[in-house]
Order: sequence, then structure tokens, then C-alpha cells
Amino acid sequence: MEGDAVNPENVCGDRPVTLRLARKGKVIVVPVGQSLLSGLIDAKVRVRFACTSGTCGSCELKVLAGTPLHRDPIYAARATPPLDRIRPCVSRSLSDELTLDL
Ligand code: FES
Repeated sequence: MEGDAVNPENVCGDRPVTLRLARKGKVIVVPVGQSLLSGLIDAKVRVRFACTSGTCGSCELKVLAGTPLHRDPIYAARATPPLDRIRPCVSRSLSDELTLDL
């Protein structure tokens, strides 16, 4: 781990995350141990993805509410990571819910 950055897994660990899909009016609960991307796919939500490692950005989604927990190598390294987007293949949530622009 670089510098004195807080390990997000030590802060909140994985826990279920509720995804509210604003435009679809759908709610999905993603359990512990499943990625947010996988949860969306299982719920038959069409999402783009490629690397599934947080690097390519193809899965990136707009966050309308909630606080993303960035675990991708791009945003996690930023001193001020964005609150309005998330790469669901690897990232999680600091809040119980995320509202996505889907
Ligand atoms: S699939 Fe590449 S960043 Fe998520």
C-alpha cells in the first residue's frame, strides 16, 4: 500500500450494496462476495465492460447519489477521487446505497 492511504477494506469491508437504477426504476441488492458489475449483469442490466480489473474504464457508470469506494487503480490513487462515477467491476460503496444513472 502506498503512503499513508487508508485501506478501504479495513474501513468498511465488503457488505451488501443496494443499487438504485434511476432511469430503469429498478433496485438491486448486490451481496457480499459479488462485484457490482456482476450484480448488474445477473439482474439483466446491459452494461459494457472489458478488463474487469478497473483499468480500461469501459464499465464506468455515473453515480447520482451515494459515496463510491474506488478500488480501481486510477481513481483509488487520487487524493480526491470523484464522487460522481464508479467502475463497478472492482469498486464498491462506502454508503449502503448507490444511485446510478442507469
Ligand atoms: S471493465 Fe475495465 S474498468 Fe471495469
